Amino acid sequence: MMRSLALLLGAALLPLSACAQTTPPLADAAWNATRFADRPAIAMGAAWYPEHWPEERWETDLQLMRAAGFNTVRVGEFAWSSLEPEEGRFTFDWLDSAIDLAHRHGMMVVVGTPSAAPPAWLTAKYPDTLRVDEDGSRAGHGGRRHFSFASQRYRDMAGRIAGEMARRYGKHPAVVGWQIDNEIGPPSFDAEAVARWHAFLAQRYGTIDELNDRWTTQYWSQHYNSFDQIPLHSRGQHNPGLLLDFKHWTTATWTDFVQDQARVIRAAADPRQFVTTNTMFWNAGFDHFALHDGLDIAAWDKYLEEGRADWPDTAANHDLVRGYKNRNFWLMETQAGRADWGRINRALDPGQVREMAWQAVGHGANGVLYWQWRNAAGGQEQYYGSLLGQDGQPAPIYREIAQASAELTGAAPLLADTYPAAQVAMIFSYDSRWAIDIQPHHRDFAPIRQFTDYYRPLRAQAQGVEVVSPDADIARFPLVVAPSLNVLTGEQAAHLERYVRGGGHLVLGPRSGMKDDANALWPQRQPGPLAELLGARVAQFYALDEPVGITGTYGTDQVAIWAEELVPEAADLAVLATYTDPGGWLDGKPAVVSRPLGAGRITYVGAWLGQAAMARIATDLLRQEGIAPVVPDAHPDLEIAVRQGAGKRVLIAINHGAEARPLALPPGARAEGGDWTNGSLAAHGVAWFRLGDGE
Ligand code: GAL
Repeated sequence: MMRSLALLLGAALLPLSACAQTTPPLADAAWNATRFADRPAIAMGAAWYPEHWPEERWETDLQLMRAAGFNTVRVGEFAWSSLEPEEGRFTFDWLDSAIDLAHRHGMMVVVGTPSAAPPAWLTAKYPDTLRVDEDGSRAGHGGRRHFSFASQRYRDMAGRIAGEMARRYGKHPAVVGWQIDNEIGPPSFDAEAVARWHAFLAQRYGTIDELNDRWTTQYWSQHYNSFDQIPLHSRGQHNPGLLLDFKHWTTATWTDFVQDQARVIRAAADPRQFVTTNTMFWNAGFDHFALHDGLDIAAWDKYLEEGRADWPDTAANHDLVRGYKNRNFWLMETQAGRADWGRINRALDPGQVREMAWQAVGHGANGVLYWQWRNAAGGQEQYYGSLLGQDGQPAPIYREIAQASAELTGAAPLLADTYPAAQVAMIFSYDSRWAIDIQPHHRDFAPIRQFTDYYRPLRAQAQGVEVVSPDADIARFPLVVAPSLNVLTGEQAAHLERYVRGGGHLVLGPRSGMKDDANALWPQRQPGPLAELLGARVAQFYALDEPVGITGTYGTDQVAIWAEELVPEAADLAVLATYTDPGGWLDGKPAVVSRPLGAGRITYVGAWLGQAAMARIATDLLRQEGIAPVVPDAHPDLEIAVRQGAGKRVLIAINHGAEARPLALPPGARAEGGDWTNGSLAAHGVAWFRLGDGE
């Protein structure tokens, strides 16, 4: 790591090291070794619902899929009533035929368990399995996700059909993986859920005294005599400890809901078949790091409902998903042109669907599956984008998807056993996000926006960011940024302190180190258990309804939404920026401070910086740590990604803009395909290159 005080103060800069991305091989190498070695490294395909169509049609569908360059189909999710039309009577013949036919066409198959859509016989006979909303109303039949995640009966029935499927397809040569349920989400507030809530709290706190203490229940006479007095709530004016524990409980309940199915699948399935579930973009419903502990890979669904892409936002979410397991993932669903649930379901522009596929792969996707293959004649999603029209003929988007599939499956040998690697990590903390959402204190303090405000300039300038949990091993990163680490446990603080003392540079954003994991204020001012290390603390925080000036190392700018006054305590602390706030509390007060600690450093940014200051701070931090992009000075529309591994380095360049942009390549780069000509990347173009300097 290269740094000096002169650098910090903005003086002459050290030469930048070439971007030798130093991340060591992680889980991927070991993981890949256990996979089907003979299977294509990149899966391309679609969600296929053969049960919507007569069997005579399937052959044509599969031929059209192969012609689209697909090598994968996903089947089975939502098909419960077609697989078990009455309790205990299983009708798997049609799915057997569909999977066998897919196999004959050389396709890989992902089998989805159908628990997101319980059949009518089940909910009619066992109404106790239906989900209950917080207001007490019970869900009815006709949609999906109307089950209670807490219902043991429902889990048993979902486990039974998952087990039947696993026994049939767990050794099938075409089946490469399992998707449990679909986009797990809404919690339930039924009696069984309440009982699980009480058991969860008893396990978490041990004694009711401990819970009373951690939740400060003297406040408003909330004292509990026993766990079974504690109400189950997710919102409203409730104890912040209770509301944060509600999220911990939904995490635990969804995790064991998913694990109940994972167990029965694994008992019958080839261990080389992956077990996953498909999650939703930026979903706040549960801690996704925790949920993925017991799964093999992460998978997620990305849609742009209004049809306008914001590439860094999508990039950040891809990096978060890759971070769930520090392992390559699948984009299990993405739109074949348009969604159908936005306000204006605009179709993406020509080229953008292909861009999105390459973007996913650039961030570590090993599979890209479209939703969906063909619209059903009826059902709730008739307007949704699909590869085929209702007449069974290709829609205009089919050609573009076929192009992306041909390119990506063609590049699969090059991409095999490679994964994105970066020298910058960003910490994503679900606890912190929830704690701020519970008490935003400013209506515009949106944790994801705060996160992506940091991510944008760091990603653009470093061209690689990993997203990690607060407990992840971060020793390999010279720079770790935690935008709003509001909730910080003592162990996490000790972990971060070891990182800094070991030579790392930790950057904390506003609201960091304020709460413990029961959502109680730390006895010290922010950053709480890291205040000693920082050698400064927050004297006061202010929600802003008007911008306030800031001046210092990062130039002059304005901050909005949030500003904290820092009080320096350590003699070796540098004040990097102060506020200009004539007549206000913040005038002349420190806003950004930084302290060297041996070879390491801790920096605290006490305000929500504007974009210009954010970009300058990113430049400064990256320079201090000697982190350089692989393609310097790339236009903001250009996304540059590198995947490396197995002695290879692959550069993927995507032009997200509507105009051609210059793209200067690093020495030794060899074009492998795409739209790069005469040093320029076409509008909405993609190109990929092999870099000369393998690992
Ligand atoms: C996803 C879901 C799919 C389909 C798609 C359309 O969220 O998993 O089943 O509904 O949305 O938007």
